[in-house]
Amino acid sequence: MSAFDNKVAVVTGGASGIGRGIALELASRGASVAIADINTERLGTTLADLRGVGSAAIAVRCDVTSDDDVERLRDETIARFGRVDILCNNAGVAVLGPPERVAMTDWEWILQVNVLGLVRAIQAFVPLLLEQGTGHVVNTASVAGTWAYTWDAAPYITSKFAAYGLSEALARRLRPHGVGVTVLCPGLVSTNLAETARMSGVPQQHSGEWFYLPPDMTDAVEPDFVGALVAGAIDANTFAVFTHARDAERFRTWRLDIESSLAAAIDSSPPPPTLS
Ligand SMILES: NC(=O)c1ccc[n+]([C@@H]2O[C@H](COP(=O)([O-])OP(=O)(O)OC[C@H]3O[C@@H](n4cnc5c(N)ncnc54)[C@H](O)[C@@H]3O)[C@@H](O)[C@H]2O)c1
Repeated sequence: MSAFDNKVAVVTGGASGIGRGIALELASRGASVAIADINTERLGTTLADLRGVGSAAIAVRCDVTSDDDVERLRDETIARFGRVDILCNNAGVAVLGPPERVAMTDWEWILQVNVLGLVRAIQAFVPLLLEQGTGHVVNTASVAGTWAYTWDAAPYITSKFAAYGLSEALARRLRPHGVGVTVLCPGLVSTNLAETARMSGVPQQHSGEWFYLPPDMTDAVEPDFVGALVAGAIDANTFAVFTHARDAERFRTWRLDIESSLAAAIDSSPPPPTLS
């Protein structure tokens, strides 16, 4: 008997990458799973894989920037499975670029998906979990939600700090009512995120230079590893989940001396290129 038998999980961004890894892990542990995504081709592939591990599963085309889509995701999940126990708020996108130049439409896009996408699903699903007095919400933030690891990704970092803060506040709100909250803070994971990422506000001649990932953050892990961590965190009702031990350690120490932590991070990375 697994803790996930007879449980129903919803995973946004579930067609690809980390969401797919979480969906497959929960399915292999006995959960029924609804995956939601805008990529219909990958929805089909992942649905077949979920059924391949013996899971009852549905795939719903759902854009998390749409209130109607997210409400329909809830309604279709209830219609098929009768309940929801686990909400994995995972759909996300990336925008890179200097904050003073990134197009406002790109700021709006990333905040709509990475922040308000979480809020929409919370509004659609959390009332059900509160009524049951059981359940779990997993928000996918990032190490980018715990420190500004680079100068190239201000919009992404902004959105992930919001996702982290929302998660902590949500834990304060829900845990007293029997509903768990986990914030997932992955380091680098091998996924398809780069396919949809936007570089914004960087003149063409500088686009090759406008990227900096600290050398100690290049060791990517696989989505199935992340899926197992998430399932374990739901089971143990753990709040913060890191994929790399050094990120958990940095989170503990970074704010102890914010002035020197920030200065050391700036001193140890190359300066951003001057943009003409
Ligand atoms: N890959 C990494 O290194 C990494 C690290 C930290 C955090 N994350 C976060 O993990 C989450 C999953 O990303 P991933 O790396 O697996 O990338 P991915 O691109 O492989 O998967 C993301 C999925 O979200 C879907 N999606 C995008 N916009 C959507 C929308 N509006 N509505 C519904 N679905 C939408 C995409 O179609 C895609 O299938 C994101 O929130 C991302 O920010 C990724």
